[in-house]
Amino acid sequence: MTNSALPGAAPGTWLARWLDACADLADLHARNPLVDAVIEEVDGRRIRVGDRWVLDFASCNYLGLDLDLEVIGAIPDYLARWGTHPSWSRMLGSPALYEQIEGRLVELLGVEDALLLPTLTHIHAAVIPLLAGAGTILLDARAHKTVYDGCTVARARGASLVSFPHNDPDALEFLLRRRPRGPLLICMDGINSMTGNPPPLAEFAALARAHDALLYLDDAHGFGVVGERTPDEPCPYGRRGNGVVRHLGETYDNVVLTAGFSKAYSSLLAFVACPFDLKQMLKVAAPPYLYSGPSPIASLASALVGLEINAARGDQLRARIHAGTRRILDHLAGLGVATRNTSAFPIIEVPLADADDLDLAGRFLFDHGIYATLAFYPGVPRDEVGFRLQVTAANTDEEVDRLLEVLAELAATIPLRSATSHPFPGQPPRAIDVR
Ligand SMILES: Cc1ncc(COP(=O)(O)O)c(C=O)c1O
Repeated sequence: MTNSALPGAAPGTWLARWLDACADLADLHARNPLVDAVIEEVDGRRIRVGDRWVLDFASCNYLGLDLDLEVIGAIPDYLARWGTHPSWSRMLGSPALYEQIEGRLVELLGVEDALLLPTLTHIHAAVIPLLAGAGTILLDARAHKTVYDGCTVARARGASLVSFPHNDPDALEFLLRRRPRGPLLICMDGINSMTGNPPPLAEFAALARAHDALLYLDDAHGFGVVGERTPDEPCPYGRRGNGVVRHLGETYDNVVLTAGFSKAYSSLLAFVACPFDLKQMLKVAAPPYLYSGPSPIASLASALVGLEINAARGDQLRARIHAGTRRILDHLAGLGVATRNTSAFPIIEVPLADADDLDLAGRFLFDHGIYATLAFYPGVPRDEVGFRLQVTAANTDEEVDRLLEVLAELAATIPLRSATSHPFPGQPPRAIDVR
């Protein structure tokens, strides 16, 4: 879309600046088959776009529950009992399924309480302003855009907003020592949605406690994949998929964990894990509880059945995800290709040597039967423009074989960022995968 297509986008306005910032995406949108595609058909992790079947390495359905016959088979009974959609806002009334899911979450995460709302986008826009009040938000520079947007709502209501460099506790401590106006809220991702790496959580949590701040985490990706560590864990993601706080052995003191079911659990549903008193406050003050439409019954059902599957065979599914991810990472290392992923989490961003090759690279992948997520500017810094691969439990070994072949062909055709000649600046993020 050109700027002139919107009446409010006169030169110099925020809208014109925003549309300018999105110019690269608008370009890709106009011509790249990996952007805004119409998926005509799904067969496992093969998807049909137009007349072409491609392998889906862009799905975030990490546990593969979108295709799981136990989930699919259970949903009709729930629909027969509850109808397709409750339609009451949660404030008016909630099907008992909500209480059941919240109860299971409390046990799984080891938190005092949890509140379900439709999406993380709703949660950030509503909860961040309530927690920040007229105080100060300290925002990690690479937090997810929806977290940033929640912070800007808070700023509009009187909070101050300051950002600090990604994963840099020293920079945060410097800001905290300047005694910003309280209440203090530190916002960041759990498992980062682009790098796949966790933050140095112990340091951030210690700073939050020392400065009487709340650490607000968005673990959209970690929940369902990483979890508590045990000596007999089947893979380095740990057990139970109970999220980044448990994975890194932290407590919930001064920590508010948010995450969603829309990735690992394939359901339109999200939660904020918090003390009981905060939950009660959110029930009367958070607009998505008061006014938003609820999640469809099929999503509540798939979350509930998904939690049962997680308890029964989640660790097996995670071991599959890890095995596939490990193969891709080892292959990239063998090709000498850089990736920011140091954790073996199933998000693998592959940067190009030249950001201007993005359209070409996307087209190459599509033409060779691979569907991936394009990592475009300004979603990532210019020197990280490339593509992102995700691995789910539903990707077969043969599909990973084919992906490895295509990556080798791509590396021989379009220069990818080299692991040795262009190392990433800044300190290396901490690893999940200690092998
Ligand atoms: C880190 C992160 N936070 C939030 C969201 C948005 O989640 P939801 O669809 O629940 O609003 C996403 C989705 O991509 C995400 O990756």
